[in-house]
Amino acid sequence: MKKLKVAIAGLGRIGKIHLKNLCRNFPELEVVAVMDVAAESKNVAAEYNVPILVSDFDDLLAVLDLDVVVICSPTDTHADYTIKAAKAGKDIFCEKPLDLSLDRVQEVLDVVKESGVKLMLGFNRRFDPEFKKIRQLVLSDAIGDPQIIKITSRDPGPPPVSYIKVSGGMFLDMTIHDFDMARYISGKMVKEVFAKGAVMVDPEIGNAGDIDTAIITLTFDDGSMAVIDNCRKAVYGYDQRLEVFGNKGMAQADNNFPTNHKLYTESGMSGDLPLHFFLERYDASYVQEMKEFIDALVSGSEMPVDGNDGLLSIAIGLAAKKSVVEGRLVKLDEILA
Ligand SMILES: NC(=O)c1ccc[n+]([C@@H]2O[C@H](COP(=O)([O-])OP(=O)(O)OC[C@H]3O[C@@H](n4cnc5c(N)ncnc54)[C@H](O)[C@@H]3O)[C@@H](O)[C@H]2O)c1
Repeated sequence: MKKLKVAIAGLGRIGKIHLKNLCRNFPELEVVAVMDVAAESKNVAAEYNVPILVSDFDDLLAVLDLDVVVICSPTDTHADYTIKAAKAGKDIFCEKPLDLSLDRVQEVLDVVKESGVKLMLGFNRRFDPEFKKIRQLVLSDAIGDPQIIKITSRDPGPPPVSYIKVSGGMFLDMTIHDFDMARYISGKMVKEVFAKGAVMVDPEIGNAGDIDTAIITLTFDDGSMAVIDNCRKAVYGYDQRLEVFGNKGMAQADNNFPTNHKLYTESGMSGDLPLHFFLERYDASYVQEMKEFIDALVSGSEMPVDGNDGLLSIAIGLAAKKSVVEGRLVKLDEILA
């Protein structure tokens, strides 16, 4: 069978992960080209024997017989690149978020629909084995009807302020994964959002117009709720926990650790800190999300995370932002209207 020809735009933290995974795990495809504006990307392309490196997205799309584009460039390029790739007839995997404006996201989705290409959004945590298991437990009715979902999501340290300035802020950059997780686990529609945010980690983040610490409450259409707690800095590392409580029981996913050993002595008990950050913690999820993306492309089945998932997580993020600014509960319909 003909190998799928894949190109990647953006070879930063996440672009390198996808490049490595696509080159090492999928004999049914080949990465034929990469694009980045930074000179250092020459070394990355050489490390993975990618024959074509360009610095312009149009040149990437012009690569002969290209089938798929994986967009890992900064957030403010996603909408433009997705539209161009769709118009060129390429199937697309795009990192989150699609854009920071809902109107622009809708415009992108309209072009994707008109072009008839496939689009998947990079909500990798759905493909994490721990969280997939919790979703399966919910689907199998093991905990009954979910009443409360609790998501703890704290980073080991904040990104540079230069990144924060173009990221869309904590809700659209970081919490967006948790909004998607809440929707994925619940399977329900979010109706209302109430959020409180603060600057507790670094005043420079506040000076850049963002927050670094937050509690967000989501209410679903059946009255069940999710509470998300976020911080850009946890001194003990990446804290990623999930709990679902229902009328028949409770399911929990704890942090993952380099080893599960515990040391007990007369002075106390100790063990490893959680896996340090997303590259380590979600390693398996990035491989699995690409696997399910490629499988869906090859089989022609529905994308496991589609454009509407991208749109709704952004809408919830915008509602959370509005809630913090206006100090009130925001109905999702206000944002979607
Ligand atoms: N799903 C996840 O777990 C996850 C994790 C991290 C980042 N992301 C998302 O991926 C995107 C990239 O984040 P990152 O952390 O890799 O950023 P990064 O800053 O590490 O890398 C961005 C890369 O894009 C390149 N670049 C800059 N301008 C470009 C342009 N116009 N066209 C193409 N490339 C360009 C930069 O040179 C750099 O190599 C962001 O949208 C972010 O939200 C997703």
